[in-house]
Amino acid sequence: MNRLLMLNGPNLNLLGAREKDIYGTQTLADIESAVKETVLQAGYDIDCFQSNHEGELIDLLHQGNGVYEGIIFNPGAFTHTSIALRDAIAAIDVPVIEVHLSNVYAREAFRHTSVLAPVCMGQITGLGPEGYHLAAKALMHVKGRREFNVNTKN
Ligand code: DQA
Repeated sequence: MNRLLMLNGPNLNLLGAREKDIYGTQTLADIESAVKETVLQAGYDIDCFQSNHEGELIDLLHQGNGVYEGIIFNPGAFTHTSIALRDAIAAIDVPVIEVHLSNVYAREAFRHTSVLAPVCMGQITGLGPEGYHLAAKALMHVKGRREFNVNTKN
């Protein structure tokens, strides 16, 4: 069965309790089970992991190479800082979509830069949990249509 990987980075284990006015009331487990439903309906399966550790996220990206059709990735604050995660995304052949619950461009200036977006297939920001579903749908559609992937790995 075709599989997707959903990765969530630091502090996203606290969803539902953390800054609810920004990130909403759904827990990560709520979001993961809803996204799983979306992908199962499309005949795919999904593995979900969360880590607060940059190195662990890098290992999961490496291990996903050749295993997954696509990766949905909310890198949390590492989005704005981690060249090591950027290099890991660039090093693998799996398309990655960067997802943020909040609209990072409507927030503090330090959140306006993603060092990862240039090596991702795309970025979804500000649509809450729906962003993960949209990323899953895009990754399932994009199979066989990689020619649209003009900004990947450059
Ligand atoms: C976030 C946005 C990041 O700037 C922040 O550090 C997060 C969550 C989001 O989902 O909106 O931890 O990735």
